[in-house]
Amino acid sequence: MDQYVVFGNPIAQSKSPLIHTLFARQTSQSMHYAAQLVPLGEFRVAADAFFADGGRGCNVTVPFKEDAYQYADQLTERAKLAGAVNTLKKLDDGLVLGDNTDGEGLVQDLLQHQVTLADQRILLIGAGGAARGVILPLLAQQPSSITITNRTLAKAEALVDAFAAHGPVNAVALDELAGGQYDVIINSTSASLSGQLPGIPESLIQPSKVCYDMVYGSGPTTFNQWAQQLGAKVVLDGLGMLVGQAAESFMLWRGLRPGAKQVQRELRRLMQ
Ligand code: ATR
Repeated sequence: MDQYVVFGNPIAQSKSPLIHTLFARQTSQSMHYAAQLVPLGEFRVAADAFFADGGRGCNVTVPFKEDAYQYADQLTERAKLAGAVNTLKKLDDGLVLGDNTDGEGLVQDLLQHQVTLADQRILLIGAGGAARGVILPLLAQQPSSITITNRTLAKAEALVDAFAAHGPVNAVALDELAGGQYDVIINSTSASLSGQLPGIPESLIQPSKVCYDMVYGSGPTTFNQWAQQLGAKVVLDGLGMLVGQAAESFMLWRGLRPGAKQVQRELRRLMQ
């Protein structure tokens, strides 16, 4: 049976084995997907052993996405620009391809929720690895602009420099956002995980707006509760992105696109 794995540290919390097992069942694929805790500094050892044993592909999560980027023999364009790899695939010629499906997972989740991205003004809050990974796939949807804002403005400006050749990106300081108009507001910071808000003005949230928090929990995230109270039209959390990125990885490995909605519903039910 074809073997797949997710590498991370910690890993016990990972939902990837469940998601891929559900995908495999849904699409009648004969495959096994496990989770493996990798000691810090030992990503290469673990990946070498996995592929030497005949492993077909793996997902890579915190804190090894940069190690996986270094490990890959070839990189997709989106992985190159993300500077991080969450999916490795052993190719027929024996080389290992590195991809990053996180951003496409976000885009697919937004599109599945009937959120329009083309010609829309996107506000991306945060300028860490999570933000970097979604910019190219968002630009591929041809928004009218992506404005990046961050507590540390210099990091937002550095991302603008990295992506300016690929589309309309700009940086604005948090305290200069008031009065701006953004159609889709995406929180890529981890602020909600510690019960904090990322610091954008309340005035940006209006009834017509879409708000997306890239993190998720058993209930609405801190950012989403805030956006909902302020009347945002559509409020989504990162569970859909998690399932979406998994679906993209599955597609890369198996050549089939699994249905994400059903799996998302199942995960939501299990998290209650
Ligand atoms: P990740 O890879 O998950 O993006 P990261 O690279 O550490 O993690 O980046 C975290 C992002 O969340 C950063 O943009 C960070 O802002 P700074 O660059 O100013 O540190 C942002 N962030 C984290 N906690 C935050 C909070 N409580 N309020 C606002 N921004 C926060």
